[in-house]
Amino acid sequence: LVAGIDSSTQSCKVVVRDARTGRLVRSGQARHPDGTEVDPEAWWVALQEALAQAGGLDDVAAVAVGGQQHGLVALDAEGRVVRPALLWNDTRSAQAAADLVAELGDGDVAAGRRAWVEAIGSVPVASLTVTKLRWLAEHEPDNAARVAAVALPHDWLTWRLAGTGVLTDLVTDRSDASGTGYFDPATGTYRRDLLALALGREDVVLPRVLGPSDVAGRVGGTGALLGPGAGDNAAAALGVGMGTGHVTISLGTSGVVSAVAADPVRDPSGLVTGFADATGNFLPMATTLNASRVLDATARLLGVDHAGLSELALAAEPGAGGLVHVPYLDGERTPNLPQATGSLRGMTRESMTRENLARAAVEGMLCHLAEGMAAVQAQGVDVRRISLIGGAARSAAVQAVAPAVLGQDVELPEPGEYVADGAARQAAWVLSGAEEPPTWEREGTRVLSAQPTPEVRERYRAEAALVLEQYTAG
Ligand code: XUL
Repeated sequence: LVAGIDSSTQSCKVVVRDARTGRLVRSGQARHPDGTEVDPEAWWVALQEALAQAGGLDDVAAVAVGGQQHGLVALDAEGRVVRPALLWNDTRSAQAAADLVAELGDGDVAAGRRAWVEAIGSVPVASLTVTKLRWLAEHEPDNAARVAAVALPHDWLTWRLAGTGVLTDLVTDRSDASGTGYFDPATGTYRRDLLALALGREDVVLPRVLGPSDVAGRVGGTGALLGPGAGDNAAAALGVGMGTGHVTISLGTSGVVSAVAADPVRDPSGLVTGFADATGNFLPMATTLNASRVLDATARLLGVDHAGLSELALAAEPGAGGLVHVPYLDGERTPNLPQATGSLRGMTRESMTRENLARAAVEGMLCHLAEGMAAVQAQGVDVRRISLIGGAARSAAVQAVAPAVLGQDVELPEPGEYVADGAARQAAWVLSGAEEPPTWEREGTRVLSAQPTPEVRERYRAEAALVLEQYTAG
């Protein structure tokens, strides 16, 4: 048996699977506090609870952890966390991100963007760890001075599972390291100069970056092998079984468009982050802050649950009677507009119906992600297959609107814990010692088709351009 762990923004999930066939044997789940700043101990407590629910690790031969990307887990010389972790969705370091970009370009922002993508494949936004380090150095210098090691959420959990307490035992993998802002996925090396640019010094322990199926150590107590783990998006790609030419759109708290590509991507516009995947390939991604929460907020406004929202949306015509919802409800990251708010336009006495409001939310969320997919394609990434995963993919309205807005068929795999599954698949790979991850058959994928609605995309694009102009003018 192997176990895969998904430590996400809200909860911890564990799956225990048969290493050879991938058959699900047991599972567990526990919530922990969410938000944008969380004490990592809460993740550890939730992991213990989820593991206990999943029957423990005594009969498990290998384990791997997938986790939310980018979070800053700063440790002191004794291995204690210096302060609660600042997570990927924390935007307080937006100014630090802008400063770091300008600094690398000697004051020229465009040159700075080019220099960052040359160095690490991505343009820093508030999500990236490097910007959180700069924020810490500027706003909490005492805490910054105590930092002896910097880890990501999944690195820290792997380290806790090993239980040695030795900072130099920290490990990570290329997929998650590439979201730090001081690791170049194309060369597989840390850029300590960029860490120093942010923190003011470079004498900190960074987790050793392991290959996709390297052994990271053993679980303290049970002796199960530990895999290197992965960032949640790369773990999900492994769980879905993505290969090159395959795009996955994940509709969770954040919306993520990710594609497996053989070559590194360097997008100076910053729309696409040039991360690595968990197999030795690359995983260019467009990540939005607003996905399922757009549906949550709209359902709340209309006083319905998700099924009710879906019903309302399906009762409206494509185009929502002219209502266009640009859903930057929590600010946005792709495009990088942390100060933005959402917009709803096209309101007339006729268009202002509950049905159109619901439809506009679904269309807006999906058009927003379709723009992300277009940005990935604009980097020369081939898109032959699209899969839709995540909580909001279960909505009938989303299933109907997605192929229309994307203009092509969309695969809907059986709902599942793709991040935990990917981590389990990595654990099985580590255990097998083989060249390739094991092939686990997945059943129950449906194909969604619809009449394309390019006019919905066009109208959305025009409205999103107006919002962009409003926040970038001058
Ligand atoms: C990716 C990102 C999010 C988190 C969510 O860049 O910030 O997808 O990984 O857990």
